[in-house]
Parts: sequence; C-alpha cells; structure tokens
Amino acid sequence: MKETKLWINGEWVDAKNSYELTSPYSGEPIANVAKASVIDVEHAIEGAHKAFLAFKKTTAYERAEILYKVVDIMRGRKNEFAEILAKEAGKPISAGLTEIDRTIATYQFSAEAAKQSMGETVPMDAAPGVKDRIGYTKRVPLGVVSAITPFNFPFNLVAHKLGPAFAVGNTVVLKPATQTPLSALVMAEIFQEAGLPDGALQIVTGSGGELSDTLITHPYVKKVTFTGSGAVGLKIKEKIGLRKVTLELGSNAAVIVEPSTPIEKIVSRCVGGAFGFAGQVCISLQRVYIHESIYDEFSKAFIEETKKLKVGDPLDPSTDVSAMIHPKEVERIKQWIEEAKEQGAQVATGAEFSERWMTPTVMTNVTPNMKVVCLETFAPIVSLVPYKTLDEAIELVNASDLGLNAGIYTNVLPDALKAADELEAGAIVINDIPTFRVDNMPYGGMKNSGYGREGIKYAIQEMTDLKFITIKTTI
Ligand code: SIN
Repeated sequence: MKETKLWINGEWVDAKNSYELTSPYSGEPIANVAKASVIDVEHAIEGAHKAFLAFKKTTAYERAEILYKVVDIMRGRKNEFAEILAKEAGKPISAGLTEIDRTIATYQFSAEAAKQSMGETVPMDAAPGVKDRIGYTKRVPLGVVSAITPFNFPFNLVAHKLGPAFAVGNTVVLKPATQTPLSALVMAEIFQEAGLPDGALQIVTGSGGELSDTLITHPYVKKVTFTGSGAVGLKIKEKIGLRKVTLELGSNAAVIVEPSTPIEKIVSRCVGGAFGFAGQVCISLQRVYIHESIYDEFSKAFIEETKKLKVGDPLDPSTDVSAMIHPKEVERIKQWIEEAKEQGAQVATGAEFSERWMTPTVMTNVTPNMKVVCLETFAPIVSLVPYKTLDEAIELVNASDLGLNAGIYTNVLPDALKAADELEAGAIVINDIPTFRVDNMPYGGMKNSGYGREGIKYAIQEMTDLKFITIKTTI
C-alpha cells in the first residue's frame, strides 16, 4: 500500500505516525498517510519563512514561468489526477476531469495575474500646497501563508490558495483535508518539476488541534486562508489575532424560478446543481423557490430528471452520484431527513441509504427552520418550495444566516435587477444556478458564509499588503 511522507524544504520526510486512508466508495484502504507532529509543522513554517526571504525577490516573470510550467505539466496528466479524485474523494470521474480543467485554468489565471499591474499613482499635487512630489502604491507579499483546504475540490481549492500566493511571492504551508492528501501531495512533485524553489511549498498532512493551532498561530505565519465549515472558520478567526485571514465557508444556496422561465431549458441544469458531487459543494443548489403558477410542472420535471441519475462507482464514467465522503455524514443527513419528515416535510424521491451513499433526494412541504433548509446539508438533497410573489421569494432566500451565491431565473429585466440588489449573497447569478462558478470571478460569502474573497485577482488583494511610496523630486 502507498506510504506517504511530508513535503518539507523540498524533500520527502518521514513522520513518526500515520493514519489509514480509505476509499469513501468501497471502504478499502488506499494509503498510509504521514501524520505531521507539531515539530514537523514548526519545521515546515520555519522553512517557508527562510524560503520567503529569497522568493520575495524573484521577478514577476520568473514566478509566472513557474506557474505556466505547472499548467503544462498538469495538461499531460489529467486522467491520472481525475483517478486520484475518484479514489480518495469518491468524485465521479467525469466531475473529476472537470475539476482538473478548472485547476489548470486557476494556475493559468495565477500566472497571468503575476504579470498584472499591482499599484497606482496617487496625484500628490491634488492636496493643498503640495508640489514636486510623486506618490505611488505597490502590493507586496506578506510572507508565510498557511492554507487549509477541504476534501470537495482537492485540486482546485488548493490551486486557489497556491496560485495567487506564488504569483505575488508568498510561500505556503499547506494542510490538505485528511481525506484528500494524495491530490495535494502530487502538487509537490509538479511544483518542484516546474522550478519552484525548495521550501516555498511545504505540505503537512494529518489532523489535530495542536497541529492546526501551530499552523495558524506561529509567529512566522502572516496569513491564514481556509475553506471549510463555519464552525472551524469561526475558531480560526478567534485564534489568529491581527493576522490576515480569508475564510470560505458554507452555504445553503438558493435559486428563484420566476414564471417567465422556460422550464424545459433549466430543469436538468438545476438537477446537476443540486446533485453534482453528491451535493458536497459549498454552492450546491439546496433550495429551489418556484413561482406557484409553474410549481407543479417544474416539480414533476425535476423529480423525473432526478430519478434518471445513476448512483455508483466513481471510476465508472456513467456514474452521476457516488459515495458521500464518510459514513457518518450519511448518518447525519439521514437523521436530518427523519427530523424534517416528523415536522411535516415529504420525500418526493430518493432517501434510500446504504452505509456509504444515499440516492439523490427531493424534499417538498419544507419550512424555513428545518435543518435540511436552514443549515448547509453538504449532501445530495434539495428542497422545492412554491412562492406567490418575487418579494416573498427574495425574503425566503434571505431568511438564512448564509449567503455565498444565489440565483434567479427570469426574463424580466427589472425583476433580475431587483434580485441583484436585494438578494444577500456574495454573487448573484442571473439566469443560471448559484452553483455556477468560474475561477477568475470573485468568490466568497456574505453573512456567515465567509470573510474575504477568492478568485485570483481578489485573492491577491488579500494575500498582499499595500505599500505607499512618495518621492520629493527636489531637495
Ligand atoms: C466550494 O465548494 O467552495 C467550491 C465550489 C466550486 O469551486 O465550484
């Protein structure tokens, strides 16, 4: 069985302890994964700090070249990477290939961003009595960035941290999710082949409170970037003091379907948004608010389309939905469904369970305070809810502590603009599902869905400091 090591200062390093990684789909062991100790994490951070002192002096051209080489290498190994995703995350192979294409785009955007202007001139003579002065800003790297990434997009959400960090000359200590270390570790090889200096990327695998605390509070760590649950995000924010932080947290994303919508054109897209990667996506479509005049027609078509989805082996190209990440997540969502049923909800289709997977589930007759509606389900489950007026629909979408992406389908421009103004979410997607994301758009939540933004250009703002320089042109 594969034995993994830690990636520290450009070398594979043994750890004293390890844990067994098993397949979410079959439960079979995949690898023995190194479990970093606090001392390992300290070495990694110290090494990243040392590497930063040199890396910050590299040119934008040099950093862009490294990222372009990563793009080239990844293009030649797509199938291999999609297989890693299928094995360790249970991601269906077709979804895995899409993730790899997006990852390549993310590194490409990062390479391009390295070369963009990162400052502006300030008109010093606009202030009263000021002459003979030039002023300009530049963005400077922060130093060591600690990146903590989730299991659901193990390549692309790692890329969203590494790409912008390296584009501007930061170094990174990466701790991938315990369930998906293999896709992160393969990036160590790729970055080394692409010419990233030793120490600029450190990868520590494992888990534990002490390990995480060291990772986020070590004095050399200048920035923490985290994607994961709201509960963990809040703990991080409480612990890190004045360090910079970006938190990409959960959501219960909603779409509004207005009466002007051609139902036949959107149903399969909505089903895809609800059940892609078994709903384990922060912007998975969890709530669909449908105008009462088209509710019956939409629901019937949606349920029929859902029933066509094939649950199975992630390595089988015909599989649409595979295992959830862990049996305890299946158990959790089963209880949430039971609770909702006791409160009056109905299961229109799905809610069949094995230890590791559940069938795509459509709920009706739900109310806003049911867990399946108001909390992030992170499971293949969606609720269909009728509404009477657009105002009511907007109120229902906003009746949530979460707000990452939200969507509306309408052919009426004033209604689209009203929704854009009034929906409380980091991104408003008009005429598509809230699950839509491309990797250069700003991405991040309002309310409890996050803090800060990703999307390369926006992540760069958060991974740099603004420095102002002024020159008096005569002495
Ligand atoms: C996420 O789950 O936060 C990322 C979703 C995506 O990149 O599509």
